[in-house]
This record gives sequence, structure tokens and C-alpha cells, in this order.
Amino acid sequence: ADPTLAQGISEYSDLISTLPLDKGWEPYLLRKYQGFWIAEYILPGIIALQQHFKACHSDLFLMSYPKSGTTWLKALAFATINRNRYQFADHPLLSHNPHDCIPLIDIDFASKIKDTPSPRILQSHAPYSLLPDSIKASDCRIIYVFRDAKDVFVSDWFFFNRLRRSNGLEPIPFGKAFKLFCEGVCSYGPIWDHVLEYWEESLRRPEKVLFLNYEEMLADPAGNVKRLAKFMGCPFSTDEEKEGVVEEIVRLCSFEKLKNLEVNKRSKFVLPNVKFDNESYFRKGEVGDWRNHMSLEMALRLDGIIQEKLRGTSLTF
Ligand code: A3P
Repeated sequence: ADPTLAQGISEYSDLISTLPLDKGWEPYLLRKYQGFWIAEYILPGIIALQQHFKACHSDLFLMSYPKSGTTWLKALAFATINRNRYQFADHPLLSHNPHDCIPLIDIDFASKIKDTPSPRILQSHAPYSLLPDSIKASDCRIIYVFRDAKDVFVSDWFFFNRLRRSNGLEPIPFGKAFKLFCEGVCSYGPIWDHVLEYWEESLRRPEKVLFLNYEEMLADPAGNVKRLAKFMGCPFSTDEEKEGVVEEIVRLCSFEKLKNLEVNKRSKFVLPNVKFDNESYFRKGEVGDWRNHMSLEMALRLDGIIQEKLRGTSLTF
């Protein structure tokens, strides 16, 4: 079968209509599929990915729970792997949003990978357990970025409310969204299972799954770009380091640089029915913004839930 979005919808709609439904994040309708809540409009793409995607050994996957630093990781990986291909003064990232440089394969992967040159760099928010066996069994590499769940939630709340506004809807109240998030009812949630699955895989196959942390990347961007390069099989040479190539990449991909580019202030349509602004991917880019929006009680509650869910594992976040 050709797993296009249209075919996916007709092929899977019977299955999808039987799945648990939650309307708390309208205009998204969430369906619970194999343990994770996925937006109904994305689910055919995720099932098609699971059933039909064929990985190549040279593929590189950038994975994350949404709002954990995906855009930044995409920019850094793209700039690092292509550093000998483009001049920094005339770089594609100066005129293209990072999401236009590396495709998201959760929706209509077949058309997204059609023109992607090899070695392919692809992005997905799919949980590890929902990935096709062809990815899990192949030699391809996965980079996963994760972030403090409190900042993820705040970031998501702002992002989602922009989407609501552009659909003529009132913002979802902070407390209501928080309650859903704590129940794991949110796009690609629960976050704790999402992060844990990739964490366990990174312990099992550290040479194939790299685990990056948003807070550590902000504290030491150059060190993390070097880790990224080494993992991707293109470590920086001593000469490159002396010439300041790492710092050039960090500067090019920095929050301030990307946020202020003309291209990232313009709007774009990701899907026929959902409008995202490029601008909405660049809000504050800080650690700990949750303190400005969440009560201490809420913070302790979410931390407690995550600690409880991760009890007995070696993961903390
Ligand atoms: P905030 O909303 O806290 O500012 P994602 O890319 O996974 O959707 O995550 C979005 C979050 O990453 C937003 O967080 C956004 O501001 C931040 N971000 C985007 N680009 C960044 C960059 N170049 N450096 C650091 N943070 C960045």
C-alpha cells in the first residue's frame, strides 16, 4: 500500500474510531493508541509509519516529546552535518525555518522522504515503542532531546493557545491543561513514558541512541554540538575547532539568531487545516520559565508524579 495521508485515513479510520477519545485539547482530538495519546489528525500518519516505513542504515532520526527543544536540535544537527556544504554567511538556516530543513515524518512520511537526500535526517515525535521494527532493528542512529517537564508543559500551553487563537478559540485555562498533562492526556503523552522508553533504549544501545538534555545544551552548547558531531560520525577536526567552527554553529542556531530572522517571523501552513506560525517555535528559550506561570504546589505535584512514574528506573528529569 502507498501510505499517503489520504489512504492512511481511509485505511485506519475504522480502527481509530474505536480508540479512547479525549476532547480536552480541542481543536485537537486525542486518541489513545498503544499507550499514548496522539492527535487524531496525526494518528493515520503514525500508524502508516509504524506499518510501512523502511529505514536505511544511514538514517539519522531526531526524536523528542514536543516542546523539548526539537527546533534547536534540528538546526544544530543540520548545521553540523552540512558544515562543509554551506557558508555560514549564506546558510539555508538564515532563510529557512529548521522545520523546513529536516522533515517531520509523523504525517505523510512517504511524500516527506521522497526528495530527502541520503544520508537522511528525519524528525519524529513518535514514542519508541511505536516505531517500526525496521528502525529499531536497523543500524540507524537516534538522537533524543528531553527537557524539564514543567518547562515543556508551559511551552506547550503557550504554543497550543496560539493554535487555539488562530482557530478562533479561547485559550485553554492553565489549570485545566495542567490537570490533563498530569494525567498524561496530551499530545504524545504521557511525557514520562515517552522519555523513559528512549532512555532505556539509550542504555541498551548507547552507540545508536544519544540522549541530550535541553538544560545541559543551554549550559554548554559547544560541548553538546561536539557530542552531536561525534555521534553523527562527523567529529570536528582540531583545525575546525581552532578555526571556531563549533562556535559558528552555536551562534547560527542560537535562540536570539533564529528568532530574529525574517523567515521565522513569517507564518506558514504545516497542514491544510492547521496553521502554525514559524514565530511560535521561538518563545523564550530559557530554563525555568515555569516559575513565572506555575504555583509551587503545581510544580511539586508534577515533579512528584514523574518521580513516582520513574521509580525503580535510573532516569530523573
Ligand atoms: P519555550 O516555549 O520555553 O521558549 P520545540 O522545538 O520542541 O517545539 O520546543 C520549543 C521550545 O524550544 C520553546 O521553548 C522555544 O522557545 C525553544 N527554542 C526554540 N529554538 C531554540 C533555540 N535555538 N535555542 C534554545 N531554545 C530554543
